[in-house]
Amino acid sequence: MAINAIKGMNDILPGDVETWQFLEQKVREVFGTYGFSEIRTPAVEKTELFCRSIGEKTDIVEKEMYTFADKSENSLTLRPEGTAPVMRSLIQNRLHTLDPVNKLYYMGPMFRYERPQKGRYRQFHQIGAEVLGVENPMIDAQLLAMLHQYFCEIGIDAVQLQVNSLGCPECRPAYRQTLIAYLDARLESLCADCRRRYQTNPLRVLDCKASGCKEATAAAPSVLDHLCGGCEEHFTAVKKYLKVLDIPFEINARMVRGLDYYVRTTFELVTDQLGSQNAVAAGGRYDGLVESLGGPALPGIGFAIGVERLVLMKGAAKVQAARPDIFLAAMGEGAAEQAFVLMSELQRAGIRAEIDYQGKSLKSQMRRANKLAARYALVLGERELETGTADLKDMDQGSQQGVALDELVGLMGQLRSSA
Ligand code: HAM
Repeated sequence: MAINAIKGMNDILPGDVETWQFLEQKVREVFGTYGFSEIRTPAVEKTELFCRSIGEKTDIVEKEMYTFADKSENSLTLRPEGTAPVMRSLIQNRLHTLDPVNKLYYMGPMFRYERPQKGRYRQFHQIGAEVLGVENPMIDAQLLAMLHQYFCEIGIDAVQLQVNSLGCPECRPAYRQTLIAYLDARLESLCADCRRRYQTNPLRVLDCKASGCKEATAAAPSVLDHLCGGCEEHFTAVKKYLKVLDIPFEINARMVRGLDYYVRTTFELVTDQLGSQNAVAAGGRYDGLVESLGGPALPGIGFAIGVERLVLMKGAAKVQAARPDIFLAAMGEGAAEQAFVLMSELQRAGIRAEIDYQGKSLKSQMRRANKLAARYALVLGERELETGTADLKDMDQGSQQGVALDELVGLMGQLRSSA
């Protein structure tokens, strides 16, 4: 029986992969302009890293991690997200001692054991960015400006930026208590899940899709009315800088993130094109995270984009595979060998050349040239070998021109650069 891929884990095939490469290329360009360097961390980390950063009581840690024991009985986990591994690497490699400000980005597969559906997979890919060492709210706005520019450059505009502030360890405990007291009085209306978790994670109730929970929390106290002076000032400045930079946004005081490390600014880029999986990108501040993982007290902020969701969206640039510059068709063994040598010379000169490897008829070779959408075709037979010249057919225009075989590489180079 044939072996299939694991449920929720997808191949990215030729024809689609060109779009992925384009999205990645744009990351390098845009994020590079903003001074970000790429960082690559392993796909597997010690389980403890995620428990301590994302939080023991989160859905990710409680239900969604791919955790296993290796042959030495170490508990390892396929990374469910990229922020914690980047913090681990920063601390381990002491990047903060080389530069007090680190701007890092990453791209790669993440793993969560979620129920697969459109836009939600068990292996998915994130493009992420993290800034360490800056508390100034200017960086919050600048990071969002970079995200905005990236989306503009890849052709997606059907997204809305929602921002919120979740307060800090100084003001959030009091807000949590206020919220718990509010929910306490409305327990009968909450779903079973929320009744179970409202004490440990009351903010999650604000995010619940169940109609009873939505109604019950419609008039719930807002986190934004409970910020301490420092958080209030920070959030006011973030909003001001977003306006200064002309980045459109809305406040969503009910936004709750599924990871525990967030403080102050949080945000999501949402769309109505993807059904319930409406967040294309999300992130926020995590000022205490590096310290809690044993590093220095560095403020941090970042985001991650879900690449599969980007690809699913209308307007995302669909990139075609590069077409061959030339197809060399051959009749007879001598010509086939000559075509093989010519192809190699062309390729060494950076020209995309193709031949037939199967000794097919001329008609079938030309069909293949058409199927590959080759820009030019050249037929080699005995006559061409004798005269050392051949006709170069322009497959788009239908026109022909004679060419000496020993000048083909030069001519193709000229045609390509003038195209
Ligand atoms: P997150 O909200 O868990 O945040 O994920 C960020 C994005 O990854 C989501 O908005 C979504 O586009 C995509 N995503 C998440 N889960 C899946 C899935 N199962 N299938 C497909 N796409 C998915 C984080 O991961 C944080 N580390 C973001 C961050 C970086 N915060 C600060 N820095």
